[in-house]
Amino acid sequence: MSKITYKSAWDDLEKKLPYPKKARKIYSVDYKEFKQKVLDENPDFVKKITSSLFNGDVYILKGAYTKEFMQNLKSNTFSHFKNKPSEFHKMLDGCPDFHRKIDLETGNNYSFKMCKHSFYFYSWNKDPLNLFKPIYERWRVIKKLMGLKPTEYENNKPKDGVVDRIQVVQYPSKIGYLEPHSDPFKYQKFFFSGFMSKKGVDFDGIGFYLIDQNDEIIVAEDNIDVGDVGIGFATVHHGVAPVNRNKEPNWDDVNDGRWFLSMYSNESDEVKNRHTGYSLAEKINIKSKLKTQLYPEI
Ligand SMILES: [Fe+2]
Repeated sequence: MSKITYKSAWDDLEKKLPYPKKARKIYSVDYKEFKQKVLDENPDFVKKITSSLFNGDVYILKGAYTKEFMQNLKSNTFSHFKNKPSEFHKMLDGCPDFHRKIDLETGNNYSFKMCKHSFYFYSWNKDPLNLFKPIYERWRVIKKLMGLKPTEYENNKPKDGVVDRIQVVQYPSKIGYLEPHSDPFKYQKFFFSGFMSKKGVDFDGIGFYLIDQNDEIIVAEDNIDVGDVGIGFATVHHGVAPVNRNKEPNWDDVNDGRWFLSMYSNESDEVKNRHTGYSLAEKINIKSKLKTQLYPEI
């Protein structure tokens, strides 16, 4: 029998089981130890971790980035785009880096409703903040775990069909949110996110949450520190709730709200009928008492 690999383990699970929808448990593990295990690709670990993720477990990888990296990411991103207009560009060949203030109204036009200030970076541009080297160092580990070649998609352009996109996000106080959704999973099996703000220090409120099999909310940020990374199967239901509900949003203040880093391999807009995620707003009936806190009060 040939040796079990991440690729063969995922193929096997995807053949046998439906894609996961509900979150099961959150595990906190040290990033360095986790990384070593991923690289070792020991059969026991391969079986255990793939099955755990495919059953809806979510992993918080502690200390994947330094706090300093995240602080710099936040201030450098904000100042780099400060005097540039808010724009939108499809993922087509030649697409520049850009930022977009997605207010409550604009956010209604996306495949899931949202309100956030997003800053987008692509590897074919000049990498003005030198993000790709440190981020790819971590992303390669995650790509390996997803059964991909660690450097998969790195040199792709939109014409190639799938591109890596770094998105830095500021969720403004009170109104910043992302409704419950399921993410695209065809090219990147996991959501892969870096935490840039700390609950109780930088913001108050729920922020990132998951939905379990009873349609209850799992508040995820209580034990998260700046620099941690979260991974989970992309189809597991999750969302972002508004923070600082009693504070007015200020899009021009770097310290307002909650910051977040998303690393995703997306199907580009060069592809017709591209594979995207979908909203769950109409599809699930959240039972939690926290339900009213998942959306902004308008
Ligand atoms: Fe997501």
